[in-house]
Amino acid sequence: MHTPYEAPRSNAAPYDVLVIGGGIIGLVTAWRAAERGLRTAVVDPAPGGGAARVAAGMLAAVTELHYGEQTLLGLNLASARRYPSFVAELERASGHDLAFRTCGTLSVALDADDRAHLRELHDFQQRLGLDAQWLTGRECRRLEPMLAPGVRGGLRVDGDHQVDPRRLAAALLAACERAGVVLHRVRAERLLLNGDGDRAIGAELADGAGTRLTAGQTVLAAGSLSGRLLGVPEEVLPPVRPVKGQVLRLSVPGPYAPFLSRTVRAVVRGGHVYLVPRENGELVVGATTEELGWDTTVTAGGVYELLRDAHELVPGITELPLVETLAGLRPGSPDNAPLLGPTELPGLQLATGHYRNGVLLTPITGDAMAEALDSGELPPEARPFSPRRFAPPTTATAAVQEHTA
Ligand code: GLY
Repeated sequence: MHTPYEAPRSNAAPYDVLVIGGGIIGLVTAWRAAERGLRTAVVDPAPGGGAARVAAGMLAAVTELHYGEQTLLGLNLASARRYPSFVAELERASGHDLAFRTCGTLSVALDADDRAHLRELHDFQQRLGLDAQWLTGRECRRLEPMLAPGVRGGLRVDGDHQVDPRRLAAALLAACERAGVVLHRVRAERLLLNGDGDRAIGAELADGAGTRLTAGQTVLAAGSLSGRLLGVPEEVLPPVRPVKGQVLRLSVPGPYAPFLSRTVRAVVRGGHVYLVPRENGELVVGATTEELGWDTTVTAGGVYELLRDAHELVPGITELPLVETLAGLRPGSPDNAPLLGPTELPGLQLATGHYRNGVLLTPITGDAMAEALDSGELPPEARPFSPRRFAPPTTATAAVQEHTA
């Protein structure tokens, strides 16, 4: 199905680029495309919403390192390096403050097992040349006096920062509007194909009138919903699934501030817990990881688990007002990495599957997608994340495999 790239600028369609999904990934794609002079629209009933409304906003390339994810680490680090200039540019373009905080992160261990786990992680980080410093329990508490006395040691990672994802989404929306991106505040019902069914040409809207928007390039950037758009041929449907995360928001009243001066996290009984303190006094506690399909119920069990683990880490949290509980859906992919750029169906590109790293990967996703939309090619650092890595084997390959089995 792979055919040479056709320039997206075409007078036949009202848009060069139609982005389905107005979360942070869809919006950054639209903003960056519009900056390159592409006539761009976004389709979403509530642009600026999505998983970013729930996310804590950790930029945790080093502290959230996992074995087997070194390729993803490269993309995460490249995006983390772009964050300061991305924030400055977006703040200028939108007039919004993103509450980007270069405060660093402390990952701590509460018992011998956690300590062994963290030591292993530190060895791995050192082998990869990453900047992480081992601290004793006492050194951890000197940095963060609210930590539990039982903390057994920790990793200080000064390069893992944070941003407020709700502010990020609002700023991207404002930047899109200022750059001339057209917002269609309605759900996309179906991908449109040309008469031969071999090219994506836009989307039909769920507006009751069956409005059809055509575009040179359509980008599917609908987070965990990306695999559910009607009309997408099976062989290019993104293999994305929802992974539920429950998150709490506490507030730190003036007399308790500063409660924590950096992000504090731990693995407790195998689950990740993190506390992300904002300068405005918000303290975000997250997150559960649950494979429960489309369920977004906040459960007593989820809230209990988060509070229990956070309390073991920082006992003083029980004094703080609990102001919000929410659940969101991470767009999980088979290898936990995003799907970026052209698919095997001409006219259809993907920007989805960011799983735990949507906020962190926003800057590099915007740059990579704008390049792919403009030139038809992903930049080198994004090429390992082409959706083609999940394409079904071609008939020829399948035949060879069958013959040699
Ligand atoms: N990266 C944090 C989370 O997905 O919970």
